[in-house]
Amino acid sequence: MKIVGGPSSIDLARKISEMLAFPLVNIRMKRFPDGEFYVKFEENIAGENLLIVQSLYPPQDIHAMELFLILHTARDLGAETIRVFVPYLAYSRQDERYLEGECLSAAMIAEIIESLGADSLYTIDVHNENVLKMYKIPVYNLTASGELARYFAKKTLERPLVVAPDDEDLAKRRAAYAARVLGADWDALEKRRDRYTGEIVTFAKDLNARGRDAIIIDDIISTGKTTANAAKILREQGAKRIFVGVSHALLLGDSIRLIMESGVEEIVGTDSVVNDYAKVSVAPILARALRGDIEQV
Ligand code: R5P
Repeated sequence: MKIVGGPSSIDLARKISEMLAFPLVNIRMKRFPDGEFYVKFEENIAGENLLIVQSLYPPQDIHAMELFLILHTARDLGAETIRVFVPYLAYSRQDERYLEGECLSAAMIAEIIESLGADSLYTIDVHNENVLKMYKIPVYNLTASGELARYFAKKTLERPLVVAPDDEDLAKRRAAYAARVLGADWDALEKRRDRYTGEIVTFAKDLNARGRDAIIIDDIISTGKTTANAAKILREQGAKRIFVGVSHALLLGDSIRLIMESGVEEIVGTDSVVNDYAKVSVAPILARALRGDIEQV
């Protein structure tokens, strides 16, 4: 197998290539003066089995277009099989028409990836599992919860408590999984988001957090409101130290300030999103998955 690193995930692709001892394919990408992309494979890939690595964190439309161009070119140049690893699968919110007339953007992304010739898709902690039902090719929704928990396990924690900041089934499964890896307890808060205003309300409940170190585990930090609400509740209930482990640390706008002011000591993200908070790599998760060890919640 050969690894193709897309522009959004070149370091991650390099790590996967080193971990599996599969070579990186040399590609060249640039922009024409009008902004359009130019893509060139610098070596012959006809008959090769490829793994394309490209995360779709913001600017997601640019990263998506890069992925589509690389995928199309790889198929066009005769790659034998193409696995696609998209750690952050953007457009995973809209799997159904919540309001009349809405676009099913998740379905559109699935149609494009499939029609461009992907044979299988690997992703990390997809926001909504229902979007994966839109694919006819095999799709593997891996979890970073274990790797995040292993990061926190290296710290000396006081009776750690893992907290899901909302009580959706997937959020609870991620927290339970991280807690199992850490050998800790876990609990979940209940959260409601207004579909029109985006405002978030988190309902307080007794988390038995007094004197303990807490780790909030979530799939995405976007505006930071979900994390900040959970951290405030934990602080009010006497938690000692509060950490956040998140698969996709988008950290938009004012989110970092909001989270730190709510009493969080450290934000830990993964290299699904390239920023200063990418302290955990998803490379070992993918490497294990390719060897048949699929880590899922
Ligand atoms: C909930 O639906 C998700 O798991 C995340 O909690 C959410 O996307 C985080 O968004 P924000 O940072 O804007 O509160």
